[in-house]
Amino acid sequence: MDEKVLLKRFAQRLKKDVPLANLTTAKVGGAARYFLNAVNAAQLAEDVAFLWAEEIPFFILGSGSNILVSDAGVDCVVIHNKANHIHLVEKGDSSYVQAESGAILITAARQAALRGYTGLEWATTIPGTVGGAVYGNAGAYGASMQQHLLLVDILHRGKGCLSLNTEQMGYSYRSSALKREPGMAVILSARLAIKKGDKERIKELINEFSARRKQTQPPGPCIGSTFKNPAGDSAGRIIDSLGLKGTRVGGVQVSPVHANFFVNEGSASARDYYDLIHLVQRIVEEKTGIKLEPEFELIGDWKEQA
Ligand code: EPU
Repeated sequence: MDEKVLLKRFAQRLKKDVPLANLTTAKVGGAARYFLNAVNAAQLAEDVAFLWAEEIPFFILGSGSNILVSDAGVDCVVIHNKANHIHLVEKGDSSYVQAESGAILITAARQAALRGYTGLEWATTIPGTVGGAVYGNAGAYGASMQQHLLLVDILHRGKGCLSLNTEQMGYSYRSSALKREPGMAVILSARLAIKKGDKERIKELINEFSARRKQTQPPGPCIGSTFKNPAGDSAGRIIDSLGLKGTRVGGVQVSPVHANFFVNEGSASARDYYDLIHLVQRIVEEKTGIKLEPEFELIGDWKEQA
């Protein structure tokens, strides 16, 4: 990676050795060697196109959920996606929310609700960006992104700018065509379907989901759900049934509230997370034969841990 090339292109926008822990929901991990803010979708697309052309590796950071950044940090360019414009297009039953990929999903869902639109109430409980949710088919309470996405604008490494519909996104549980082809595309913005509804009912539903979440999921820094649910079961239920709630490695604990959430008690390292995740995965496999799959992505240099 040639620093001169980066400095020539990005000048003052380029920062060096930027700590990432506070930009992640688990609050662990080292620094980004190079760091850039992208403030709108056009800038994000230009930055990515440049880095692809120069073959400079990069990672796009959203709101830092569903990732575990290594203590050694990230030896590439981290683009912080701050493209967060949201607007509502009101066209009766064909209404939609148009959001840039760095917009916070909860904010987009709440804006629709405040204007009396139903459909995205479930999304008011999901931390993360619109882009992350579209990429990973985020979901809760029986709904998921695949039921609401109308169109997503992407920049594809080989094919340039494209708009994909839900079918083209090839959705499956917590996955998509883009997730199955990592590094080949960047999500720029998305269009989510909403319908006019009853304001009181929408409010009730949001309060109900929020109360359920508070009751069943712990507060405090964590990655999000640690593992995907295996078909027909719940990772949390399985880990709990083996008596693993409360298990600790260093500063990370399997939450006593929900066993699929591993909480940073304040002093955790990424290494603690990595070790606890592998410990739980190993015990579950030994005792049940089920190999739990991580729902998050490992970011940065993990060579020492392997
Ligand atoms: N359960 C236990 N012990 C636990 C946790 C759960 O016995 O420690 C039991 C519950 O009693 C329930 C069942 O397991 O009978 C399922 O639990 P829950 O309703 O909490 O749902 P989940 O399957 O653990 C999924 C999603 C969450 C989403 C909730 C609510 C995954 C991996 N998790 O959790 O999504 O918020 O449903 O809809 O798909 C996420 O994906 O990051 C996420 C947080």
